[in-house]
Amino acid sequence: MGKEKWQVNFVKITEVGPRDGLQNEKTIVSTEDKFKFILSLIRAGLKHIEATSFVRKEWVPQMGDAPELAKLIFSENRPGIEFSCLTPNIKGYEAAINSGFKEVAVFTATSESFTQKNINKTIEESITAFSEIFKRARIDNVKVRGYISTVIACPYEGKMAPEKTLEITKRLLDEGVYEISLGETIGVAVPSEVEALLNVLLKEVSPALLAGHFHDTYGMAISNVKQSLSMGIRSFDSSAGGLGGCPYAKGASGNLATEDLVYFLEREGYATGVNLDHLVDASLIMQSAMGKAFASRTFIAKSHARNS
Ligand code: HMG
Ligand code: MG
Repeated sequence: MGKEKWQVNFVKITEVGPRDGLQNEKTIVSTEDKFKFILSLIRAGLKHIEATSFVRKEWVPQMGDAPELAKLIFSENRPGIEFSCLTPNIKGYEAAINSGFKEVAVFTATSESFTQKNINKTIEESITAFSEIFKRARIDNVKVRGYISTVIACPYEGKMAPEKTLEITKRLLDEGVYEISLGETIGVAVPSEVEALLNVLLKEVSPALLAGHFHDTYGMAISNVKQSLSMGIRSFDSSAGGLGGCPYAKGASGNLATEDLVYFLEREGYATGVNLDHLVDASLIMQSAMGKAFASRTFIAKSHARNS
């Protein structure tokens, strides 16, 4: 009975703090501190960790140490933990595989302007660049995840049409991508917009193939998770402490905080496999490495409770 309930209610969390969180922070964290952070995330029970990106250093200097970090991560066997990284093209893919990754993530967007500014390509060109990755990944037996950014709104073009996201989703799934992470990149969405998007997607795509990737700029991320859960989504991305920011909204918090997600899910009767106290330990490690106060309400409440 307990086991059955656990399976039915299990929610997968992909921890993106080391990548999406740190890529948006001004401070460049040392490779050693990133590694300590990752080890503490593992200790907290996180099993899917997006560790870094193999992109141009000139574009994202915070991820410039990807091969060095990978060396530490893969210095020993870590059973049951899946590490992934972003790869925009075959050059990034090869570097990732040579560094030991068995899972990569490709990334494009619903918005043409965002794709151009983010990866210097049109959406069509981005998918063409991925086709080489898909081909190699099939041969190398490497898992590929797919991100679609700006699924609700774009900082340059405004509101996005769900039909465009559906079209890109189907194309990536047809290529063998195992899960599409729906990027609410700027954190402006409200639940009715998430509902409208999922209503279109779920007509043709199983919820088991979709993940929610919410940023928390306006504090709406948990409400959007609740909406997504009610429509069958059981996979979400988050970053410890709410690490990160939003380059399009000064002072905004980053991804939905993993602490807030875990607190919400566990209190609502879902299982995550994550120990909240150990997760707070992980965030404390990164907070002190960065010398910056993290925004997650759950993290603040839990860490203050320890000191009182
Ligand atoms: P480009 O300048 O168009 O590349 O950059 P290019 O193909 O013209 O090549 C120019 C030079 O870059 C060449 O070197 C290439 O070898 C090199 P040169 O011959 O001049 O010495 N190059 C590379 N170097 C390292 N790694 C590579 C690579 N590819 C080519 N992979 C590129 C195109 C995509 C590389 C560039 O635009 C880039 O690095 N962009 C970074 C984008 C990024 O990381 N954005 C953040 C992640 S997306 C995100 O955060 C959203 C998400 O969280 C979901 C959500 O919230 O919405 C996922
Ligand atoms: Mg993101």
